[in-house]
Amino acid sequence: MSRLSKLYMGTNTKMYKTPVHAVRHLARLTELCSDIPPDVLQLFIIPSYTSIEGMAKLTTRDAIMVGAQSIGYEEEGQYTGEISPLMLSEVGADLVMVGHSERRHTFLESDFDEERRVRCAIEHDFTTLLCVGETLEQKQYGVSREALAVQLKIGLHSVTASQANDKLWIAYEPVWAIGVNGVPADESYANAMHGEIKAALSEIFGSEIGGDIPVLYGGSVNLQNAEKLIRQPNIDGLFIGRGAWDADNFNSIIRAVLPLFQERKGSVRSGKEW
Ligand code: 13P
Repeated sequence: MSRLSKLYMGTNTKMYKTPVHAVRHLARLTELCSDIPPDVLQLFIIPSYTSIEGMAKLTTRDAIMVGAQSIGYEEEGQYTGEISPLMLSEVGADLVMVGHSERRHTFLESDFDEERRVRCAIEHDFTTLLCVGETLEQKQYGVSREALAVQLKIGLHSVTASQANDKLWIAYEPVWAIGVNGVPADESYANAMHGEIKAALSEIFGSEIGGDIPVLYGGSVNLQNAEKLIRQPNIDGLFIGRGAWDADNFNSIIRAVLPLFQERKGSVRSGKEW
């Protein structure tokens, strides 16, 4: 079955929520979404490192995957401030995000850094979510497609097709669309960029595997724009910051988009809600 038959919905809580608040958020989301089967919806939350263990104890990979916001390059060493893949495994992380816009632009991580992090995450068997996105300047110069291709080709340099098939997800998060000053991407622009990402993934891994890698959109997603985004054929899920930090809001977005996604896939199940 294609990995794209289900909808992917997740949140990155950035440097918000202490472990107590993160666990509360997870518990509420679990309660709200308990009727939706995992083959219909893949939910995930990417909290601060200190919240992973408490959250992983409360949930399962099938219900809600719990992820880390980055990963170091090595298992151990003189890397103050980094986090080891062994540490993430031991606390129960399922997923690792690499190359978030804030890592690239606030902490100046390069494509080559991201490549090493991706390699480490995949080698340690984490589902790996590589984030890519062009800056406003790149968009204005008309080189978004090229910028995305560079980030993908360098970031995924060491990933094999079979690893990609099993473990890789991509988030398209245009830098200009993220956060409090972000302007959400217009849905047709987002769809076109997802198409470019899918074309690059097909070039890297072949069309069968490259075309089956989930590509999620992130950047100022909210209840108002989520429906338009999810109607786009190249958008396989949504990766949300502020709009999902309240579990009830997140659930409202999920309830709004899931039927549309199902309709798009022609897979509304008779006799069941989903
Ligand atoms: P916002 O939805 O708050 O713009 O953040 C998106 C994001 O950075 C997800 O990783």
